[in-house]
Amino acid sequence: MKAVIYEGENRMRVADQKEPSLAGPKDAVLRVTTSAICGSDLHMYEGRTALPAGHTVGHEIMGIIERVGAAVTSIKPGDRVVLPFNIACGYCYNCHRGFTNMCLTMNEHGPHAAYGYAGMGPYGGGQAEYVLVPNADFNCLKLPGKPFDEWEDDFILLADVFPTGFYGTELAQVGPGKSVAIFGAGPVGLMAALSSLIKGAAEIYVVDFVAERLQKAKELGATPINASHGDPVQQIFAWRAKHAALRERLRPGEEKLKGVECVIDAVGYQARDDKDYAREKPTQVLDNMVRLVNPAGHLGIVGVYLAPDPGARTDQAKQGVFALPMAELFDKSVTVGMGQCPVKLYNEYLRDLIIMGRVKPSKIVSHRIKIDEVPAAYEKFDQRVDGYTKVLIRFEGARAAA
Ligand SMILES: NC(=O)c1ccc[n+]([C@@H]2O[C@H](COP(=O)([O-])OP(=O)(O)OC[C@H]3O[C@@H](n4cnc5c(N)ncnc54)[C@H](O)[C@@H]3O)[C@@H](O)[C@H]2O)c1
Ligand SMILES: [Zn+2]
Ligand SMILES: [Zn+2]
Repeated sequence: MKAVIYEGENRMRVADQKEPSLAGPKDAVLRVTTSAICGSDLHMYEGRTALPAGHTVGHEIMGIIERVGAAVTSIKPGDRVVLPFNIACGYCYNCHRGFTNMCLTMNEHGPHAAYGYAGMGPYGGGQAEYVLVPNADFNCLKLPGKPFDEWEDDFILLADVFPTGFYGTELAQVGPGKSVAIFGAGPVGLMAALSSLIKGAAEIYVVDFVAERLQKAKELGATPINASHGDPVQQIFAWRAKHAALRERLRPGEEKLKGVECVIDAVGYQARDDKDYAREKPTQVLDNMVRLVNPAGHLGIVGVYLAPDPGARTDQAKQGVFALPMAELFDKSVTVGMGQCPVKLYNEYLRDLIIMGRVKPSKIVSHRIKIDEVPAAYEKFDQRVDGYTKVLIRFEGARAAA
């Protein structure tokens, strides 16, 4: 089968690989219809992780079940499913509590596992024609409809970015009427904006440098803030101060609440320096979040902070150690939540919003390509040029089999 493998810094290649076969009675083999390239894949692509060369990548995967092991009871060949990017056992202490992002049994080196990802266990990725699904009863979300129908591009976003954006809003405690700022208008940031809209937030600001991505945020109904036009925190303060109705409603002391109640990081450790887009500044978004959040507000960090980072500039940064304005955080009494998304907590609810026509997350999809075009697409997506925002990989071979 064809599969995308990591070869080394800035090099992905389409290789001929052996098709996976069932490794145990609880496994399934999935024939992939669509998978996607994620901002998280770029950390590996850029050589910023310890991923060994030759590993198959891809953790956003949907398709049709091809084969199941003897102990699989709830799904069968022919079923259409999407996989949470987290691989989980379903029976450990953390899985029982819903923290499938912190499964204790699926990866001997850490409290988490995923398909095709550095540090997340030995599992093969799904930018491939077939993928092995461990614990298939627990790790498959059943989908209605037929492959390549009008929901295909919505459902693939249930593997990661839609639940992850939603998780950002959970960590930041977004709710009806709240004020929200999201750093990053990549797929995760845009899904956090969509989730904030679903939850009925009143003010939703999305910060980025890339005009095409900010345009998508605007089309979703958020207020775009272009960081290349100056300090984004000051821009949000100024926007709010200029808004007559927001100003006229202030009670005594409320003028101190210049920022917002909920702030989400959908950028991570490869954040760009606000003063110089060409430079990386890993703490840029964290620093901005602390300045922007109102006292007694909430921070949700879903942008990734990864170590070891061979590409970092300092020894401390290589270990993921950064200085933070702790006193200001404490002084403001904010809550801070972070981490990988426990996709399974949200994916069925978000699926049903799609089915019932309440949301259409695929509005953010920019490109649909064949597997042979993947290496070139990584390059464009990595440079965030030519409108490359969310790239889906279509496995047309599966169409005939469907
Ligand atoms: N927590 C999770 O479970 C989880 C899941 C998926 C992705 N992620 C992470 O989320 C992050 C975003 O991923 P993505 O798929 O949206 O793609 P992405 O990496 O393309 O999006 C990041 C966006 O941030 C923008 N950006 C860079 N510096 C900025 C700054 N200082 N201020 C504002 N915006 C800035 C970039 O221009 C880009 O548009 C990545 O770190 C990814 O690894 C986390
Ligand atoms: Zn992803
Ligand atoms: Zn578990």
